[in-house]
Amino acid sequence: MAKSEKVRLAAVGDLHCLKDSQGALQKLFAEIPPKTDILLLCGDLTDTGLPEEARILAKELKVAVNIPIVAVLGNHDYHSGKQQEVEAILSEAGITILNGEAREIKGIGFAGVKGFPGGYGRGTLAPWGEDLIKQFVHEAIEEALKLESALAKLRTTHRIALLHYSPIQATVEGEPLEVYAFMGTRRLEEPLNRYPLTAVFHGHAHHGSLEGQIANNVPVYNVSLPLLRAKFPDQAPFRLLEIGSGAKE
Ligand SMILES: [Fe+2]
Ligand SMILES: [Fe+2]
Repeated sequence: MAKSEKVRLAAVGDLHCLKDSQGALQKLFAEIPPKTDILLLCGDLTDTGLPEEARILAKELKVAVNIPIVAVLGNHDYHSGKQQEVEAILSEAGITILNGEAREIKGIGFAGVKGFPGGYGRGTLAPWGEDLIKQFVHEAIEEALKLESALAKLRTTHRIALLHYSPIQATVEGEPLEVYAFMGTRRLEEPLNRYPLTAVFHGHAHHGSLEGQIANNVPVYNVSLPLLRAKFPDQAPFRLLEIGSGAKE
């Protein structure tokens, strides 16, 4: 990326595409601000993880969006046990789905992973006791390791991390306290702190908070569609980030 060149990202998550979403999503995508260079989708792309829903979404994106799209899947995309099919349908439509991989697009590095729940701070579930508890925590650790290996591959000046679950508690606040542990886990924050990042985007916490920071002050944006709609009722429901004009350049 040339020093004077700016790349504009628009991010949203939790589209929850249904079998009858045809038309409705095109309307949403038509609101993507002009001059956006890359669209980021932070999981829960489909509502119940059905291939039919993925096909509708792929069609809607194809009609309405002609810029690169980078995405991660969310827990809803796993609900029917057909996540591989969902991923294949969306990949065939040209969407870059990241699941522990890294990609460079327009000079910006992207690392993405779905993530997993598990809690924050004192509420972080530990791998202790029953096998099922250990397996649960192991899955969260695996997702954090996948994120780490994706981040390690990037050599770009600007690096963006994409997740579905939240790596920090700050962007979950607003949800009932009882569900914090299901919104994500601080285990996902550990790899993020080890790499120079420009920003982190996630979804999943529909009633959380818009912004927070990981320990090394990198901004974290919750871009869940219901949250963006609730907080900015008069604006297009996308979080915009222009890269290339900041101090890092
Ligand atoms: Fe969601
Ligand atoms: Fe979700």
